[in-house]
This record gives sequence, C-alpha cells and structure tokens, in this order.
Amino acid sequence: MVPAGTETSAYERISNCIEGATLNRVFFALKGAEAQAERLCGSRDRVGVITSRWFPDGETWLRVEDDVRDCEVVVVARLDRPDRNTLPLLYAARTLRELGARKLTLVAPYLPYLRQDSAFHPGESRSARWYAELLSAYWDELHTVDPHLHRLGTLDDIFAIPTTIASSARPIARWLQQNTHDEVLLVGPDDESRQWVEPIAERLGWRATILQKIRHGDHEVSIEVPAEAHGFGGEAILVDDIISTGGTLLAARAALAAHGLQASRVIGVHGVFAAGALQRLREGGFVEVITTNSLPHETNGIDVLNELARGLAQKSEDDESGVGA
Ligand code: R5P
Repeated sequence: MVPAGTETSAYERISNCIEGATLNRVFFALKGAEAQAERLCGSRDRVGVITSRWFPDGETWLRVEDDVRDCEVVVVARLDRPDRNTLPLLYAARTLRELGARKLTLVAPYLPYLRQDSAFHPGESRSARWYAELLSAYWDELHTVDPHLHRLGTLDDIFAIPTTIASSARPIARWLQQNTHDEVLLVGPDDESRQWVEPIAERLGWRATILQKIRHGDHEVSIEVPAEAHGFGGEAILVDDIISTGGTLLAARAALAAHGLQASRVIGVHGVFAAGALQRLREGGFVEVITTNSLPHETNGIDVLNELARGLAQKSEDDESGVGA
C-alpha cells in the first residue's frame, strides 16, 4: 500500500512554505531508509551516499561517498532491530564528523528501547536512558515520530541534545475519517496507548475506550475490557503505538470479542513486527493491519513524513533566526 502524497518531497513542500527558507543540507540514508531520505530532502538540499555492508562475521563496513566539509548533514536511519542497526549509525556519525561536517542531525522516525524506561526488577538495565546517552554523544540533534514516552515525561529527561517529536495523530485521524462509515469505537489496548487514542478520538468526535493490560511475558498478556465499552454495537478499531509480537493486539481482540465487540482492523504507529507477527495477526482475525511509514513495511498506509518534515524545517528556521539559541 502506498501512502497518499508520496510522489513529491514532503520536506520541499513544507520548507517552501516557510518564507525566506535558505535550507541547504546534505541528506544521507542508512540501510532501509533510502526512500524516507528522498522524501525528506528538498530541492535546496543534496542527497549524499553512505555505502555500508556487514562482513560475514557481522561487523560493519561503512564509507561516506561525498564531501561534507562545513556542511550540515542529516542522516535518516531505521532503528528497528536496534542492536544491529545502531553501530553503523555511530560509525556514520564519527566518520562524518572526521570528514568535517559542521552539524549532525539524526532523523530516526522510530526510536527504539523506550519501553525499557525503568528497572522493573532490581538490577535491570534502564536501557532507554543508556541508549539516549549513546545517541546524544554522537549526534547534535534528533527528530522522531511519536516516541514511546510512558514513565518518562519528555525526551529531554534522557537526551542531552535538542529533539523534536512529530505526531501521527492528524494523519491517523484523516485515515480513519476516510476509511470508516458507521459509528466507530476507538480502542487503546493499554494505558500507554491513551496518549494516541484519546486525542484522535477527540479530533473525530468519536468514543474511545482504554483496555487494561497486564504483561506476563514477551508473548503473554491478559486484557480486561472496561464496562463502559460492553455491548457497543458498531465497529471497534484498535490503535497502538508499537506492534512487535502482535500479542497485545490479539489479546485485545479476544477480550473485546468476549464482550460482543468486533475488532478486525488495527492501526499501529510503528510496525516493528517481530518474526511471524503479521501472519499471527492475520490468522488471529485481523482483516486490515495498517501502519504509518515511520518504518517501511508492506502494511504502511498512513504517511507521517510530512509531519516529520515540518519539525525538521521549523527547527532549521529557528536555528537560522536564533530562536531558542
Ligand atoms: C506497550 O506498552 C506498547 O504500547 C505496545 O502495546 C507493545 O509494545 C506491543 O508489543 P507486542 O506487539 O509484542 O504485544
């Protein structure tokens, strides 16, 4: 499925709208983010090439193919499977800096590790914090889409560099408006999803309900449906930020069904999809699984790159005019 509006550069359109924009940067993509970088890069920017590969033993080899001396550089990276995809990102940053790049901006539409934001048991690594420290040490600025902020208030709690957050609420609301006819109940499978579900429902003037989830393991969750949702006659559509194993959504669908609610469509902001997850969701009765293009995937149906481009362009304008300096 191709998200609407992919044919023109989002960055170009947004930055052109900002009066007096004099943006001129070099955009690079790491593996898997090539199409996103093309979308985000505008006519006043250059597209550069970083070539990389993994040696047979899994080590990274990487080369910056362009002159970046005194340039502002933007690197777009997909960071699902973060243990594999993060080292190339760090090597790219150091190499670009060594080659004379003036400013290093990271665009990571999906920011991993944020679910590990606390030591749930004694001795556990608060990996969200350590991951943020690592990125902050290598990059000057970060742009992302709907990070999983649950126990953390803002990205500033863990990042030492400026960050911007693009919200998927507007594009998701637009998709829902265009793809539904009758009365819909918007359902969040757990408390964390409230921050997406409620603003979207409010935009649309729809009802929303948030289920109660208890996680027992990587694949096992139990879910309760609040009484307010029992007996709703129309379609229920699930909205969650991350789809990983799909276990949360399958349990939510089963819990809803036990109360007579039919949920055959689900929207995920970030389609991380652990091995076999999409097939499990389809076999479990989901007819439509829709994700945003924060991570390129066959389920992408909602475009969030315009929102991302807006944050990038605005930040650049603010920097030029000294706002927030
Ligand atoms: C959890 O807090 C997230 O919002 C998602 O519900 C969760 O990460 C989904 O994971 P899975 O698909 O493995 O159940």
